[in-house]
Amino acid sequence: MAKPKQRYICSSCGGEFPKWAGKCPDCGEWNTIPQEPVVVAAKKSSTMAGNSMGGIGGLGMGSGYAISTLVPKKFDEIETRGEFSRFMTGIREFDTVLGGGIVQGSVTLIGGEPGIGKSTIILMVASILAEAGHGVLYISGEESPSQIKNRAERLNATSKNISVLATMDIEQAISHLESGTYRYAIVDSVQSVSSSNLSSAAGTVTQVKHIAYQMMEIAKRKNITLFLIGQVTKDGAVAGPKVLEHLVDTVLYFEGDHNRGLRILRAVKNRFGSTDEVGVFEMSSQGLKSADASMFVSNLDTPMPGKVITPIMEGTRSFLVEVQALVSTTYYQYPKRTTVGFDARRLDMLMAVLDKYCNINLSTYDVYLNIAGGLRVNDPGGDLAICAAILSSVKDKPISSQYSFLGEVGLSGEISSVTNVNSRLSEAEKFGVTSIVGSERLEFTKSVKHVSIKYVRNLVQLIDSL
Ligand code: TYD
Ligand code: MG
Repeated sequence: MAKPKQRYICSSCGGEFPKWAGKCPDCGEWNTIPQEPVVVAAKKSSTMAGNSMGGIGGLGMGSGYAISTLVPKKFDEIETRGEFSRFMTGIREFDTVLGGGIVQGSVTLIGGEPGIGKSTIILMVASILAEAGHGVLYISGEESPSQIKNRAERLNATSKNISVLATMDIEQAISHLESGTYRYAIVDSVQSVSSSNLSSAAGTVTQVKHIAYQMMEIAKRKNITLFLIGQVTKDGAVAGPKVLEHLVDTVLYFEGDHNRGLRILRAVKNRFGSTDEVGVFEMSSQGLKSADASMFVSNLDTPMPGKVITPIMEGTRSFLVEVQALVSTTYYQYPKRTTVGFDARRLDMLMAVLDKYCNINLSTYDVYLNIAGGLRVNDPGGDLAICAAILSSVKDKPISSQYSFLGEVGLSGEISSVTNVNSRLSEAEKFGVTSIVGSERLEFTKSVKHVSIKYVRNLVQLIDSL
């Protein structure tokens, strides 16, 4: 029998190394390898929790496939199930992100920082499932049944059919699932439960992977739809859900601005739908509410210098956002450039272009850029609006909120078209925009009766149009 070995395991990617390193050679993350090694059993081909084992090998185990039946099949020998059967929860944004409801028998991982709302959303979903008559087992390793009930009361999600099991022992949880009474199971969270078959502590990569494999095995066997909740910590101290991404069918990440109550649920992997979808929620005193696009703009009525609204894309959806720029004389040796909700390097680039082609010397100014509402803008279609906001602040001239800007700015100051022109236009129209300043290459296929369009080719023309 091979001897057990000492290994250093990265908490971010699960890579195993014989020596400690400050930077993980596999994923490149810093400080994710603990200085204390763990003792791992020498690999046998049947260990489910083996770190280097792929998902398929793990899944095939114990799921009833005898080796002799494993013969390759041609496509025309393979039966497909047709359309997946789905359950619509009625929580609009949640259903959208999943690509149209929960797929029966699927495994979904919901990740996010502590306090972002993972337990809240999953409890709301659990209650809806239970109300519809499905058996739901809520396995909680973090909170007591009374804490969960308190939250459910606050959310008005007190379906009598949810069964709560507060345990940190996965074997105990699995023994309850064996009964076959549950169609849905939730593990909140994968870091807080552990298996007594492994010597490592809860939350380590080995445990987290083992929990996921064990749960997936029973889920496939008993046809249970599974939700795994995973905590993401910035310092990587606890094994993050990253190590599970390749195993599960769908990965959703919850992100947002804690202070403003805005939450975005993003699909980063979906075997049953598109990963372009995002769901937007607002955290209220009664839980998460599907949010409207209007929450990203503060006050449309009062034009102020530096304030510009623009429709931007998040996945396949457009939102009207408010760009706020403040350009003020600097008192520092190096002028400040500060951004909230926007990439600082892209701002530098836009300022360099403005500097060169619009003849404004920004080197004597501090520039602050804020995207109101807590959304993060990654869409280059917002470039023109950002340039307009900066110009408006430099010149101290307000821009009416009936104006919106659409275009991507290139290094030579030319303005090019943006994607999803029609959906942006509809969003802008909804909020009373009557004029759009945009690239001359914008192709509207929708009629633009109520909106006038001013085409600009480059930033010089933008200044003229302002
Ligand atoms: P929670 O779902 O417990 O977060 P996670 O499971 O991701 O750690 O939600 C935590 C925060 O949400 C908490 O700070 C309280 C707040 N909250 C509300 O504002 N309203 C509510 O109705 C609920 C249930 C929570
Ligand atoms: Mg929680």
